[in-house]
Amino acid sequence: MRIKAIGRLMRDLSGQLAFITGGASGAGLGQARVFGRAGAKICIADIRSDAIGRAVAKLKAEGIEVHGLQFDIMDRTAYAKAADEVEAVFGMPPTIVSNTAGVNSFGPIEHTTFDDFDWLIGVNLGGVVNGCVTFIPRMIASGRPGHIVTVSSIGGFQGSALAGPYAAAKAATINLMEGYRQGLAKYDIGVSVCTPANINSNIAEASKLRPAHLAASGYVEDAQAIASLQSIHQHGMDPDQLAQTILEGIRANAAYIIPYPEVREGLEKRFAQILSAVPSVETDPDGSKCRSDALRNWVAGRARALSRNEGG
Ligand SMILES: NC(=O)c1ccc[n+]([C@@H]2O[C@H](COP(=O)([O-])OP(=O)(O)OC[C@H]3O[C@@H](n4cnc5c(N)ncnc54)[C@H](O)[C@@H]3O)[C@@H](O)[C@H]2O)c1
Repeated sequence: MRIKAIGRLMRDLSGQLAFITGGASGAGLGQARVFGRAGAKICIADIRSDAIGRAVAKLKAEGIEVHGLQFDIMDRTAYAKAADEVEAVFGMPPTIVSNTAGVNSFGPIEHTTFDDFDWLIGVNLGGVVNGCVTFIPRMIASGRPGHIVTVSSIGGFQGSALAGPYAAAKAATINLMEGYRQGLAKYDIGVSVCTPANINSNIAEASKLRPAHLAASGYVEDAQAIASLQSIHQHGMDPDQLAQTILEGIRANAAYIIPYPEVREGLEKRFAQILSAVPSVETDPDGSKCRSDALRNWVAGRARALSRNEGG
């Protein structure tokens, strides 16, 4: 399906208000710095109040106008209260929403418990859903052009026997952003998804953020596991460098932001493998045409019905 280009690209960040989850650390804090230096007002939302305090102090020291909000993005009531607070403080809803907060945990997929699923999918997918459902109606009502960006993961393009729930949640956020991108263009709200491969961040310590009611894990999350993850992430991309590419992606309304050349070969193999399962049209030209026509007619009919309902 062709996506209508949005009318007004968000080239200038001055006057914008960016709401960034996970903004107290890593990729979120990088965006707070980079977007703030580009002239945006910043709201950082995070579950850790101590880290928010440190981040807010650093950002203010740079002259960035910033407000910190402590809550768990899995908590919908808290999310709605945070959105009200943003509007009370800044007099407007955010024009940029960055769903960046995320957690990971690794272990054999066959040992994954309900708590592992509920926490990893709850934060990495549920938190993004909560951000979108909370803010998008407010952004549309404001009538201002806007942008939603979600930090997913390159892991979202491929299932993983060691990161089952994380990869599934990240796959879902890529898909969700593709859907919102189609749906929000008519409101001049751009949508991007960023799929990093490795960031120099604190994510190795994410298991420390697990809520007590979701503590029954099938994975080993001890000091050794944290140290082994840190040995990878210390070589990750600098968060400010990643944030700069995210900013360029917002300015261009890029669908995908993937500034990691080393992932190209893997993605090529992955998509070639998927395409190899699809026969050519010549193997069933009539059936193929009949099904495609039916789908095209249904989509066109739905679009007409929706436009009638909206009075368009
Ligand atoms: N680090 C990597 O290599 C890497 C790779 C691919 C994708 N990512 C993604 O990048 C995003 C940012 O992670 P990062 O690497 O900067 O890690 P990070 O741990 O440095 O930052 C994540 C922040 O999210 C916050 N957070 C966690 N759970 C939360 C919750 N329930 N509610 C509110 N805030 C919460 C944490 O307190 C932390 O400050 C995540 O979505 C992660 O999955 C990271």
